[in-house]
Amino acid sequence: MMQQKQCRGGIFFSRISYVKEKYGMNGLQKLLSEMKKMGYNGPLDEKEIKIMKAYPMDYNIIFLKAYKNVFGEKSFKNMSREAAKRKGIVGTFLKWAGSPEMIIGRAGDYWSKFYLFGKLEGEMVGEKKAVVKGYDVSPDPIFCEHLTEYYKGVFENINIKDLNVEHVKCIHEGDDHCEWVLTWGDMKNDRNLKYTKTIKWDVSLESGVDEIDRQHMYFVDILNEINRSVLKNYRYSALRAIKFMDHYAHWHFSSEEKYMKKYGYPDYETHVKEHEKFYKYTKDMMRKIEDYGINSDIAYSIQKYLIDWLINHIKYTDRKFAEFLRSKNLRMEEEEIPREIAEKLEN
Ligand SMILES: [Fe+2]
Ligand SMILES: [Fe+2]
Repeated sequence: MMQQKQCRGGIFFSRISYVKEKYGMNGLQKLLSEMKKMGYNGPLDEKEIKIMKAYPMDYNIIFLKAYKNVFGEKSFKNMSREAAKRKGIVGTFLKWAGSPEMIIGRAGDYWSKFYLFGKLEGEMVGEKKAVVKGYDVSPDPIFCEHLTEYYKGVFENINIKDLNVEHVKCIHEGDDHCEWVLTWGDMKNDRNLKYTKTIKWDVSLESGVDEIDRQHMYFVDILNEINRSVLKNYRYSALRAIKFMDHYAHWHFSSEEKYMKKYGYPDYETHVKEHEKFYKYTKDMMRKIEDYGINSDIAYSIQKYLIDWLINHIKYTDRKFAEFLRSKNLRMEEEEIPREIAEKLEN
């Protein structure tokens, strides 16, 4: 028989007191009736709930789902964050614990106080960054969402500013465990960040060859995505986006190079050298972000080596090739985008 996952009743107290404060008894009634509709058959009166008693984890999941249905996504996130700050549960203790190092170091203990399954491990990796790994901690994606917000609440509770929490691995998305990366610090005050700018597609970037322009438009989108992640100090999103860009660049460049070869383009060598430079920049950047995270140095490099490079390359080097094609009336066929790239571009 499969062992039931269980959690302690204490968890429900902070949530119920939150609902009562925010939506009154009527709100609580609404929530309870939604929970019943969803198959909840546990205690209905909070007085019946015992703090240390083990309840099925299903109650917890139903609570979260019903809450989201009744009060909406935004309120759900608030509730999850506030749950971390309430008295009577971990809130007070966490506040007293005080430092991120302490909280991260004890994440596993906190987990097993309230959840009777799975395992949580926290580890500081650098001064303002931590990784939290959960093994078998999440029976449902909604619980991952809840935990993501909950961690934010934990840190807000000890006045940590500019916190970002990213859910980078998830068992509901094919990974073998769940993982969160927490970073904090004040990127907004970093003066170098002003260098990173969004690229707007306009005629100055057009080459006059449809297929080249089509491929470049995607390229610009991907770069803007990287930029957004960097500005928000989302290290893992930035890294993911850069990896994807590298993948895309290989495809796009080789498509250009194929036609240069085919038509005997005289500037082939110099053009390819520029492409190779880009691969190198990208690789360096990925390594730097992996080692040091996002900082002003990276922001500056992204501006200079990715964004400025691309604009320059599109405006001069690729345009030269496009002019060569046009002057000789040569065509570049629409290239099929590989499946794995196309799928990501659609999102
Ligand atoms: Fe290009
Ligand atoms: Fe090119």
